[in-house]
Amino acid sequence: MYYAPARGVPLYVIKHPDHIREVLITQADAFEKTHTALESLARVLGQGLLTTDGEVWRRHRRLLGPAFTKKAIESCVGAMADETRVTVSKIKEGRAWDVGHAMTDLTLRIVGRTLLGIDLAKEVEIVGRSMSRLQLSLAMPRAAPAALRWPVDRVTARAAEQLDGVIERVVASRRAGSTRRSDLLQMLLDAVDPEEGSVQLSPREIRDELVTFLLAGHETTSNTLTWALTLLARAPEVERALVREVDEVLGGREVTSADVEHLALTDRVVREAMRLYPPAFVVARRAAREATIGEFSIPRGSEVVIWIYFTHRDPRFFPDPLAFKPERFAPEEEERRPKQAYVPFGAGPRACIGRAFAQVEATVALASLYQRFTFRHEGPPPKARPRITLSPSRDLRLTPVARR
Ligand code: HEM
Repeated sequence: MYYAPARGVPLYVIKHPDHIREVLITQADAFEKTHTALESLARVLGQGLLTTDGEVWRRHRRLLGPAFTKKAIESCVGAMADETRVTVSKIKEGRAWDVGHAMTDLTLRIVGRTLLGIDLAKEVEIVGRSMSRLQLSLAMPRAAPAALRWPVDRVTARAAEQLDGVIERVVASRRAGSTRRSDLLQMLLDAVDPEEGSVQLSPREIRDELVTFLLAGHETTSNTLTWALTLLARAPEVERALVREVDEVLGGREVTSADVEHLALTDRVVREAMRLYPPAFVVARRAAREATIGEFSIPRGSEVVIWIYFTHRDPRFFPDPLAFKPERFAPEEEERRPKQAYVPFGAGPRACIGRAFAQVEATVALASLYQRFTFRHEGPPPKARPRITLSPSRDLRLTPVARR
């Protein structure tokens, strides 16, 4: 089983939207983030937004919120389109395209440029490698003998060291520069909490948030784009409709923030890809006190796993659940089902801070890619690999076809 808490800790698996609402929203204060899966991750991420609870989390969330306002995200659209153009320029017609690798490279460059104001092209390999090493550490059962754990722990520590090297460069280059920016990195460096006067973040806190945003901000969106492109490559009719939309809205020019709301089908393709393959396919919590969820009594200390993957494939909420149908996300369809039947970004106070950013980023990237290419995928559909995120099999390749 993918998710195994420590021996003797009861595990509750949740997938009904009513129960999801209880755990993530209505009774959110009864469920804390500390749990088995995050322990391995926290060894590398430290005390970042994803892994902390309580006052530390509240303070950091308040500080970083302004980096994700509608206006802040709109100001990133040009850079998102620009970076996608770099990716497009490397695609060769008819030559097998390693889409997973290309999307990791793209989303990392976008996070680097828009949130940290730095060119990460050189570090893409290091961060990508570190991420896959972390996945290895998470896959290792806690009960494994020390002799088995030791080499994995060593590799994880090395991955953390390499990430720290990237972070040091990012911070040093910003401190050395003379231009003022208003991005996430600047918010971290200037942080003054309005409620706490002039408390600045320590270098350790800055490091932990930067590693968190580097990792949380690219891997998930990379998987979303990879799955979306693959689903489209296997569904020529949907692909044709998307290409039509892209041509009508953009008429051959680059995407701007004003275009995003008109790319309705492209936006729905992104949502449907995350329904079928939610990058964060489980969300976990630990009961801080005894709680009642539906008819179940959850003892204090139990772990609760919300298995988003199953919720998203439940035929009660998504008829014909295995079919790729972006029209499920037309507003009238969305109104027909419970809100928490679709939770790729979680819900409640701990919902993803980057959700609007990611949705816009994936929409802009898809539209920009389809201006120049369509893609084919033959043979059986790729298998999903459940690790920290849900990625497709490593050997996935698409065949690009240049648009005339
Ligand atoms: C398709 C892309 C993404 C998906 C599917 C996704 C998914 C999620 C989910 C499910 C959570 C909640 C975890 C929980 O409740 O335990 C989360 C939290 C978070 N995500 Fe995302 N995410 C995505 C993109 C991003 C981006 C682009 C960023 C940053 C730029 C980001 C940063 C974070 C952070 C910092 C948290 C922790 C928030 C908190 O606890 O306050 N994510 N994400």
